[in-house]
Amino acid sequence: MTEFERRRFLQTLAAGTAAQAAGPAWAQSTTSTAVVYLSRSGNTRVFAEALARRHGAALHEIRPRDPWPADYEEMVDWATTWRESGDLLPLAARPDLSAHDTVFLCTPVWGGALPAPMRSALEGQDLDGVSILPLLTHGGYGPGDTLETLRALTPGARFADPFVIECDQERRQMRQLDAWLETVRDRT
Ligand SMILES: Cc1cc2nc3c(=O)[nH]c(=O)nc-3n(C[C@H](O)[C@H](O)[C@H](O)COP(=O)(O)O)c2cc1C
Repeated sequence: MTEFERRRFLQTLAAGTAAQAAGPAWAQSTTSTAVVYLSRSGNTRVFAEALARRHGAALHEIRPRDPWPADYEEMVDWATTWRESGDLLPLAARPDLSAHDTVFLCTPVWGGALPAPMRSALEGQDLDGVSILPLLTHGGYGPGDTLETLRALTPGARFADPFVIECDQERRQMRQLDAWLETVRDRT
């Protein structure tokens, strides 16, 4: 049991709910849990939705106010421009995460960094004392500086060990699609 789980377990005991416990301690507490996620191609959404179902948690999707490009290469340029500018991106909605005790924070890695929409969702939120459980998906190059940025944006939050997982990459899938389309060119 990690130090984080141990503390949550003791809190749960104090609340008198530990008797029904099975699984990690933070899963049984009576505190308010939210899942906040960003997802373009669905990898992160699968995890976020599973976490929300398992924990009966509020599910918040972070989306830009104006849709991002549908084309993958244009999307990479869009993400790079926002990352390099450091500007805050207008969002469709900005959930108040300080209203929760525990937040599963689920995000892909873009350009070795925290995507601008998630950065914009976290900027200025007071998450002092909130437990954050990060879940990162990437396409094979690892988390980059995503976790460092998350911590810098949420001073005072208590971080659990992250879950980091390699998932499919849209670029690789598009290349495979293109290769197949090439072989059936005379049929299209
Ligand atoms: C704009 C963009 C930039 C990406 N940059 C990286 C990267 O730097 N390193 C990496 O491993 N994967 C990168 N990926 C791949 C995604 O992190 C990976 O496929 C992730 O699981 C996508 O999550 P989603 O399906 O929830 O959108 C990038 C994807 C996009 C769309």
